[in-house]
Formats: sequence, structure tokens, C-alpha cells
Amino acid sequence: METISLRRALCISAIFISSQCGILAQEDERYVPDTDPLVLQKLGQWQDLKFGLLMHWGPYSQWGIVESWSICAEDEGWCRRANPDYTAYKKDYENLQKSFNPVQFDPARWAKAARSAGMRYVVFTTKHHDGFSMFDTKLTDYRITSPLTPFNTDPRANVTKEIFNAFRAEGLWTGAYFSKPDWHSEYYWWPNFATPDRNVNYDVTAYPERWENFVKFTHGQIMELLGGDYGKIDILWLDGGWVQKMTREEILKQITAPGYKFTRIQNQDIRMDELVSKAREKQPGLIVVDRAVHGKNQNYLTPENRVPEKALPFPWESCIIAGGSWSWVPDAKYMSGHAAVHLLVDIVAKGGNLLLNIAPGPLGQWHEEAYGLLDEIGEWMKVNSEAIYGTRALAPYKENKVCITRKGDNVLYIYYLADEGEAMPAELGMSSFALPPGAKVTVVGRGTKLNWTKKGDGFSVSIPAGIRKSPPSEHVWVLKATF
Ligand code: GLC
Repeated sequence: METISLRRALCISAIFISSQCGILAQEDERYVPDTDPLVLQKLGQWQDLKFGLLMHWGPYSQWGIVESWSICAEDEGWCRRANPDYTAYKKDYENLQKSFNPVQFDPARWAKAARSAGMRYVVFTTKHHDGFSMFDTKLTDYRITSPLTPFNTDPRANVTKEIFNAFRAEGLWTGAYFSKPDWHSEYYWWPNFATPDRNVNYDVTAYPERWENFVKFTHGQIMELLGGDYGKIDILWLDGGWVQKMTREEILKQITAPGYKFTRIQNQDIRMDELVSKAREKQPGLIVVDRAVHGKNQNYLTPENRVPEKALPFPWESCIIAGGSWSWVPDAKYMSGHAAVHLLVDIVAKGGNLLLNIAPGPLGQWHEEAYGLLDEIGEWMKVNSEAIYGTRALAPYKENKVCITRKGDNVLYIYYLADEGEAMPAELGMSSFALPPGAKVTVVGRGTKLNWTKKGDGFSVSIPAGIRKSPPSEHVWVLKATF
């Protein structure tokens, strides 16, 4: 077998670019609220959770390459192949199923680590674009529980079920990432034609029965996941926004937009409204995220690997790579605990949630650095999590190194984003936000009452030397104002 490092050499730029490639698709910041009261209620609860875990995992992890994209023929950095013979490459890629045996799979350890970092939900790739199902689907053999996959004999072979059960046992919500496009299904990429890009490779108006089979297959798989065998599912996180209903005008608009590249763009109506209503019969209140598809089936927005400049006036979540790539790479460099805590606070101050991606490896292991990172975040959360959960954005959100949020109507949190190694300042405040007169200010994690004064249109809090000498936590110091 070719070594991981050779394959990686070809995919190295891929990882950075892949982290960027969804950006344009996700830029659309319009929002259509749902009208189902149960969904609205659940979305409010979800906005309180603030911090979740995303995991990209599949047979591709064995090669340490970018997930799925190398079998897509688009001429992009993240699609480069180690073998210039596409047909041979795709065959090898699909044969990864036959050696996928993640014997070190330990979802209980992942769930505990996530829980103690303060994560409150998990989103797992039940199926990525390559079509490999990480659950016990009855609708294809290209799945982890197939006799073709060595792990099928392991009692934990249905990894999606194991993951959801393990995380639920730790009190986390569960979310199913599911890719609408399926590059293994002959109803999506019909072997009768070449596959020029990510889209369905035949004309759906010329072959409506084939497309209908694809719609049925997709609905069938999603209903397998939501029908009960996998327990209560809170979020259906649908990727592959190009699979969507489009009018002729919308198609024309895309084709004529600057930078347009894809040849096979067409109306790929997967009948989302019908799917969502069937799904909510099984999972009342289910949050559905039809990513990058403008409309009511995108209950929250998902900016990818970036944090919006300003607070957004509707539910949103940034999904961000913690180390290396969305998918596992052997020598992933993880962000520091300091950077992660700053990221979380920045997102929370803008009213969003952070969905941090950690990728399991070929044997079902996480890098030890991933556990280390979650430990560091957990240390900070142990002291400060009350200033994360259940908060809401409050203008002016951020001023220099100070952020602000509210919880309910009588509590404010003020966060100081310290530089690495910085000492706690003697005075901390804002010039564009006035604290309510008579507010009681304390340091989170200490409870000592602090003196503060009105300063112009803002305020300034004095931090006593004792607290400055040994602050309650590292990275970000939090004050609480009650009134
Ligand atoms: C990008 C990648 C895709 C990944 C997703 C996660 O769009 O192309 O593979 O699943 O990001 O948000």
C-alpha cells in the first residue's frame, strides 16, 4: 500500500483549501424562521447549549486524507489524487471499506472528554459525500456493518448507534450529519456517464425515475436514522447544499455569476419539505439544518471555519477544525486551549454556538492532543461555564479585548480576552456600554464584590491586587454584573 505520507503530500494543500471551500456556499446570511412551536422551543434550548463536538470519520481516515473529496473530479486542490488514473484511484478508495477495522473505537471515552470540556451536543458524520454509511443501513452494502467491512463482526459495528448512545449517556444532545449527495449511489453518479463534478451526473429531467430512486433512497436512509433504532435525535445536519430544489431563474443566476465552475448544476429536488415533515413525525421538534439552502429547513446557519464579523440576529453555529483537517491526519496540530477559549467567547458574545471538529483515526482513536485540548477547555469551563450556557448576545458585543453578554434580564457577563502571559489589569471596563446603576459586580469563580464606577458613557471595574495575583482561571477572565 502506498504510504500515508505520499497520499498526504498530494492532499496537503487540500486540507487548508477544503477548510475554505465551503465558505462561499455558507456566506448567505439570510434566515427564514420555522413556524413549528416545538422546533422554536428546541432551537431556544439549543442556543443555550453553546458548545458542541463535530466528528468526521470514515474509511478515508485510513489514508489520512481529506474526507470524500478526492473521488470528486473537480479540478480543485482538495480533490487531488495520489494516483493519476481516476478509475483505479476510485476503486482503491472504495476498497478502503475492506480494510476499515477501527478496533480501538471507544466512544465512551470521547463522550466523557467532550462532557468534561463542557460540550453539550455531538454531530457525527453518519454518511459523508463518498456515500459510505457509518450506520447499519439496509439500503446499501457500502456500510460499516456490511460483511465486506472487517469491523462488521465487532459487537460495536454500528458505530453511529454506539456514538449516539455513549454521548446521550453523558447528557449530550445528538446530531446526525448526513450528506445529501451520495457519490457511491448509482442513482446519483450513474456509471453510464462520467462524473465531471460534485453534482448528479445525469440529466434528472431526462431520467426522472432514476432521480426518484435517489430521492427514495435518501429519504429511506434518513428515516432509518430517525425512525427510532438510534434513539432520540435532536439535530439533522444536512450537508451538500447543492442538492436542492432550484428554479430555472435560480440556475441561470448561478451559471452566470462570476467564478461559476460547475457544469452539471440543475434542479436537484430532494423533496425536503416532505422529508422534514416525515422526520418530525418520528422526532417531534427535530432541528433541521439544510446547510446553505435558503429557506425554512435551515433552522440555523452554519458559517464554516470562520466566525462572523458581527452578531447575527438568528440562531447560528460556527463549525471549526480543532486540528489538522475535518478528517483525521496523522500529524494534526491542534489549536491551543487559549485559542479555543477565545474562540468560544468570541462566538458566544456574537450569539452563536461553537461546533468544534475532532477527527477519529483509522483505528478509532483520537490524537492524545485532542484530549489535551479538551482538558484545557474544561479547566476554564469548570470556573466560567455559567457565563457560556444560556447567555444571549448584547450590543455592543465586543470592545477591544472586552466582550459582553446577558443572561435573562438581570445578569450581564463581561469577559476580558487576555493575551498569553498577560497579567490581570487593575481596571477593566468598556467605554460604549453603561452598567445599570447599582449593579453588583463580582469575578466569576470568586464571588468577591468589586467596586466599579461610571466612566463617561461606560464603566470601569477595579480588580483588587489579591485577585490579580491569582486569577480564578487562565485565558479569559469573567466578571458578572447583577441588578
Ligand atoms: C467543507 C468540506 C466538507 C465538510 C464540511 C464541514 O464543506 O468540504 O467535506 O464536511 O466542510 O463543515
